[in-house]
Amino acid sequence: TQQHLIAPSVLAADFANLERDVQMVNESEADWFHIDIMDGVFVPNISFGFPVMNAIAKHAMKPLDVHLMIVDPDRYLQVCKDNGAEIITVHYEACTHLHRTLAAIKELGCKAGVALNPHTPVSLLKDVIQDIDLVCLMSVNPGFGGQKFIERTYSKIKELRALAIENNTDVLIEIDGGVGLSNAGKLLEAGADVLVAGSFVFNSQDQKETIKALKDIDIN
Ligand code: DX5
Ligand code: ZN
Repeated sequence: TQQHLIAPSVLAADFANLERDVQMVNESEADWFHIDIMDGVFVPNISFGFPVMNAIAKHAMKPLDVHLMIVDPDRYLQVCKDNGAEIITVHYEACTHLHRTLAAIKELGCKAGVALNPHTPVSLLKDVIQDIDLVCLMSVNPGFGGQKFIERTYSKIKELRALAIENNTDVLIEIDGGVGLSNAGKLLEAGADVLVAGSFVFNSQDQKETIKALKDIDIN
């Protein structure tokens, strides 16, 4: 089986020491930078926007995995790409014409992701699963770091893997919210490919060591 990926969420970094924290991730065993963009409309919070993401991109030596928690994301796909995104994930709940949005992301040369809120069933992806590179299963309600992991996520991972297999396609399954060493092993066993971790990494004493511990989990 393929080694899983670790994507530290910059939302939990020290914004007054962003370059230092970006360098920490560069030097760590992390695979991607997870970038949470919020608009205060789709979610009840505002994080940071594209100028800050651009500043991160200038120092980042790993791909930017951008999670757009914004309404009508079509308006910002080009800007997102221009500011350094390699993977662009939009919310199922924010896209009236999801199939078109996914095509637009790929047209830009980016990988296309779809995020599902905790209440959104995996089965709704049936008719677009072949057009998706990554599915981000929200294991908290999006908007804030440091929330409690929702247990139902384990069965959603299994349902999603089954849906992908049924449709002869492969998607990366990313888990976002409340991830730490207490649940990472079980998430990987259920079939997760990418673990996002914000507060668990950035609030720890030795951040690089924490990333390494998440990366080193071996479920075989
Ligand atoms: C939540 C964001 C997450 C968040 C995760 O809205 O999408 O990426 O940063 O933070 P933790 O790992 O602290 O739950
Ligand atoms: Zn996120």
